[in-house]
Amino acid sequence: MPIDFENITDHTGVRIYNFDAAKNVDEDDLNEIKKLMQKKHFICFKNQKLDEDSLINFCRNFGNLESYPEKNKTKKNIQIFNVANISADGEHLNENDPRVVLQKNNSRWHTDSSYRFYPALYSLLFGKETLPKEASGGQTQFSNMLLAYKSLPEDIKEKLKPLHQVHSYNDIRRLEPSLPELTIDEKRNFPPVTHPLIRVHPDRAMEKSLFFTSNTSLEIGGMSFKEGKELHSWLVNFISNEEFYLTHEWELNDLIMWDNRVLLHRVLPYDYSKYRRAMIRGTIEGTKPVYGPFSQIN
Ligand code: OGA
Ligand code: MN
Repeated sequence: MPIDFENITDHTGVRIYNFDAAKNVDEDDLNEIKKLMQKKHFICFKNQKLDEDSLINFCRNFGNLESYPEKNKTKKNIQIFNVANISADGEHLNENDPRVVLQKNNSRWHTDSSYRFYPALYSLLFGKETLPKEASGGQTQFSNMLLAYKSLPEDIKEKLKPLHQVHSYNDIRRLEPSLPELTIDEKRNFPPVTHPLIRVHPDRAMEKSLFFTSNTSLEIGGMSFKEGKELHSWLVNFISNEEFYLTHEWELNDLIMWDNRVLLHRVLPYDYSKYRRAMIRGTIEGTKPVYGPFSQIN
């Protein structure tokens, strides 16, 4: 049976009901999914039955999985990240637990693994425990950076052209000082990287998007601290605009999948001590650097 989908907004996202991600995927379906991802950047597969192993299997259709940089922190399986305020054993964690602090950091606009030289391609997030209907927050919100770039004033596009941002895994600690220090090895494995603010997409006829984050740094490189901070805040404000949004309201057993090259995302904060929220994430490794307006693209 062909995949049946409905659009979520005209610019971003589709919802699919008649698909089982726990089964082996045939080639036609896989091609259809890849086509939908390229066109709409986000898919929600409803009513899935997944565990760590079957999520990993499904992810492998799209490439290699990333492993999380810190050892033995939030996961049983090195390729699965527990996006949760409960431990892998099901214990509701204290608000100050580093695993919960990392969840809070997810409420700042970001794209996954931007601290890597090859940032993540897709992320796949499966909702194992979602918030009750009466709770506020907990939605995952996306902002479409292809659209945002198109809407930028021309003088800002010019200004952004040569600029880069520094992305550093270690720098999450500047925003969340209670997080424990990384080990020397972890720091060595993840040195800071820079990426251009304007991303050029060779797979979309060189279309451009904005590419920046606010979960590790709140500055822009190549400018004074003050000027960089001002520009960064301006950008955060600019992309925080409903015109560019897709807001995912979670239902139990949703599997969502998004393209980190073109969408930023964040979780809307919720009451972390009152409610349990547990998801597992597999992340597809990127294989290309972030190309900018001055990159040599072969
Ligand atoms: C993530 C993330 C948002 C959420 O897993 O990368 O940012 O809604 N999650 O938990
Ligand atoms: Mn994320």
